[in-house]
Amino acid sequence: MSSEPTTTAAPEPPGPEPRRGDPLPHDLLDDGERLTREQLRELQLHRLRATLRHAYENVELYRKKFDEAGVGPDDCRCLADLSRFPFTTKADLRDTYPFGMFAVPMSEIRRVHASSGTTGRPTVVGYTENDLSMWADVVARSIRAAGGRQGHKVHISYGYGLFTGGLGAHYGAERAGCTVIPVSGGMTARQVQIIQDFRPEIIMVTPSYLLTLLDEFEKQGVDPRGTSLEVGIFGAEPWTEEMRREIEERMDIHAVDIYGLSEVIGPGVAQECVETKDGLHVWEDHFYPEVVDPVTDAVLAEGEEGEVVFTSLTKEALPVIRYRTRDLTRLLPGTARPAFRRIQKITGRCDDMIILRGVNVFPSQIEEIVLRTPGVAPHFQIQLTRRGRMDHMLVRVEARPGTDPDRREAASRAIAHGVKDGVGVTVEVAIVDPETLERSVGKLRRVKDLRGA
Ligand code: DLL
Repeated sequence: MSSEPTTTAAPEPPGPEPRRGDPLPHDLLDDGERLTREQLRELQLHRLRATLRHAYENVELYRKKFDEAGVGPDDCRCLADLSRFPFTTKADLRDTYPFGMFAVPMSEIRRVHASSGTTGRPTVVGYTENDLSMWADVVARSIRAAGGRQGHKVHISYGYGLFTGGLGAHYGAERAGCTVIPVSGGMTARQVQIIQDFRPEIIMVTPSYLLTLLDEFEKQGVDPRGTSLEVGIFGAEPWTEEMRREIEERMDIHAVDIYGLSEVIGPGVAQECVETKDGLHVWEDHFYPEVVDPVTDAVLAEGEEGEVVFTSLTKEALPVIRYRTRDLTRLLPGTARPAFRRIQKITGRCDDMIILRGVNVFPSQIEEIVLRTPGVAPHFQIQLTRRGRMDHMLVRVEARPGTDPDRREAASRAIAHGVKDGVGVTVEVAIVDPETLERSVGKLRRVKDLRGA
């Protein structure tokens, strides 16, 4: 690739010793984070053009798609020109399974990961040495944005293996100068012991597995507010502001959001800053975001909700051009990192949307209502069945231990009303006994769709 435009950022005097929740002092920002918006846009265009060329010249599928659309790498003269290029989807990766979209010889691939998805073949992703290094950089940047510092201990409960969560967090935490405790998922009782004995400041885990851990703390009679943990970095599945409040309150930690997907890199595409907790800054020097209308495919303006689409700007092994994530959000201007735009907390995926008697329902809407209802635990499950020709939704929610039948009844009514008023559909609510619903050890599947059964 040709040499990149050089940028100069004014050096800033070092600040005082940072404390959790303080904005990150300027001297702890990396070079990318010091760019101005203008410098960033210049760098993006340069990297975008190089990526389009790399993809066109080295991946048959891109060459075919670009040719069919009548565009070539030279047709991208400004960032807005990207909208002339075709989208890439999960189906493209499946069709070229396992390695057909790699843009470098296999001998340069240092690692692969794969995501299982719900049906059919997994999607396989690959990384060169430079890709792995960039990934560690963006995860390290994410950990610093969350309040992590050199010398902190990071307890990683994301699964290790083909899933990108464990190893992605692992090398990022090492890059940030932290001590990694690579626990992976499962063996919940032992995780609680390790947290008490090793005294980590940071935990990286799915929010649903953190709830499983919280229950285990309580079962062991350990006060989860009394641990050494100060920050939780939660992602890999949607979670709501209500869930943030629940976790922060029960654990006395800062709960921040990390986003990513295997096809784009893994965790570390976007990260919430602990000082603002106002959505996730997209690390735009490596991943260029667009939000499109999921039905018409039109690019939407900043602030409008739609499907977020990413183009990688520096990846070698698997450049992705306009990758359709299926994740719903909106783009917002930067705050704590002014040059980087934010995405709002992900509301859900296009594919998670339940159409119940014509009304669109997202599991996150049910989560908000369940979590603000007294007497019930944050554990719930949605079951879809067909009654005659009508779809039926049953929301099963666990009672908190010690909740008497009257309060259970009241909770059930409150949730049903909340869904009717807030979402506009009638659902059946069943309050079940504590500890009866399936617990998460990683990504949680909230919806059981039995309509085809
Ligand atoms: O879940 C990568 C990851 C690992 C992200 C650990 C954060 C932490 P995949 O298995 O490919 O990769 O799944 C990607 O998970 O398209 C979203 O639907 C969902 N997702 C990931 N992070 C978030 C988040 C990893 N913070 C898919 N909020 C994505 C909501 C998320 N959904």
